[in-house]
Amino acid sequence: MRQPASNPAVEPVPERIQRDVLNLSQIRHPDEPGWTREVFTDPYRESREWVSATMRAAGLEVHLDGAGNIIGILHGREPSAPAIVTGSHTDTVIGGGRFDGIVGVLGALELVRQLGERGEQLERDLLVVDFLGEESNDFGLSCLGSRALAGELTPADLDRRNGAGVSLGERYRAYGLDPSGVIAADWARRRPLHGYVELHVEQGRVLERHGTPIGVVTAIAGIERLLATFEGRADHAGTTPMDERRNAMVAAAEGVLVIERQGCGAPVHAVATTTRLASQPDSANVVPGTVKLRAEVRSIDEEWLSAARRSIADEILQKAREHDVEVEFDWTSDNAVVRTSTEIHDVLALAADRQGLAWKAVPSGATHDAVYLAKLCPMGMVFVPSRDGRSHCPEEWTEFEDVAAGVSVLTSAVLELDRIDNLL
Ligand code: HGY
Ligand code: MN
Ligand code: MN
Repeated sequence: MRQPASNPAVEPVPERIQRDVLNLSQIRHPDEPGWTREVFTDPYRESREWVSATMRAAGLEVHLDGAGNIIGILHGREPSAPAIVTGSHTDTVIGGGRFDGIVGVLGALELVRQLGERGEQLERDLLVVDFLGEESNDFGLSCLGSRALAGELTPADLDRRNGAGVSLGERYRAYGLDPSGVIAADWARRRPLHGYVELHVEQGRVLERHGTPIGVVTAIAGIERLLATFEGRADHAGTTPMDERRNAMVAAAEGVLVIERQGCGAPVHAVATTTRLASQPDSANVVPGTVKLRAEVRSIDEEWLSAARRSIADEILQKAREHDVEVEFDWTSDNAVVRTSTEIHDVLALAADRQGLAWKAVPSGATHDAVYLAKLCPMGMVFVPSRDGRSHCPEEWTEFEDVAAGVSVLTSAVLELDRIDNLL
């Protein structure tokens, strides 16, 4: 491992990060709980105008690519050198918080300010990216912008329809993005990239429990998503005897418990969650004839993931038969397990050491845009603690001093990565 550059401690300004995070948090859906800025919505559109303006104010040259990703460029001395990329996302889940993804974009702006105030010009261009639509949506696809960047968003994906029967392509068009331009936005496959490093809140409890300010990510969990359709028979709820029913809801409820047990019994970091049951006809006095169950399973162990798919399907089928209900399974792989670059992992760990910050190697149960950047170049992630491990809820919180510590590690690591010729 090369000896690091002797770069003195980096002192980000927590107040500036706090100002930006709280300013961005003013832009949210007025009628939804918490901080809601779903992709393709008006609050999201407004928030990205704010992000672009804040990137410019930090001294970046701002572009919007065909997939709706906002790219802020800090030019280096050698524009032909493969660029370093950092960033994250600023869209939220419904009822989300103020830090998930956001600290990776706004923390990168503080990195840019730090470089400017230290008079540091990198050898390489630094690209700060706010990726469009990282959160999963009602098309069942997360990481829309980074997926397109990696050339992994397909024309078939644009034909996916949501519960209202609207296609993803139509949503892009309604938002003002040409679907063919989205597919063609894989510019990062044509421009060599040196490495990607993302700052993110942990969204778990490990760092807080260990009193460790920095997490260096080892792997990002794979995600398998399930839509199971239970077909029984609609009947009168008042007159149909209990032993003559084919109640799709009862079979689906058994399915919920099968999925729960699958996650709870996992020997490795793995989780399984049913996130929706929707019955048809959804009438107060009708035995549900059809029920759609939506679920996801995640793990950093690929073998556990594929075994979980098989055992969940087998067990749900068997339970459904006991209720004379048929089941159809529609599985989609949202992303495979992705390991981080060992060299970037070590650079981040050394950067934390140099800043005098304790760090801990941690897996990520959450997925990130980093999954798709890893297809383009070596990837690393640095985590900062989440209070009570909470995220995807209004209670999501990270102390700004902790965010600033993460920015100091990110800045120190970017300076080091800039010096390294080729990353593994
Ligand atoms: O679902 C996730 O893991 C991420 O927060 N989009
Ligand atoms: Mn996120
Ligand atoms: Mn999220």
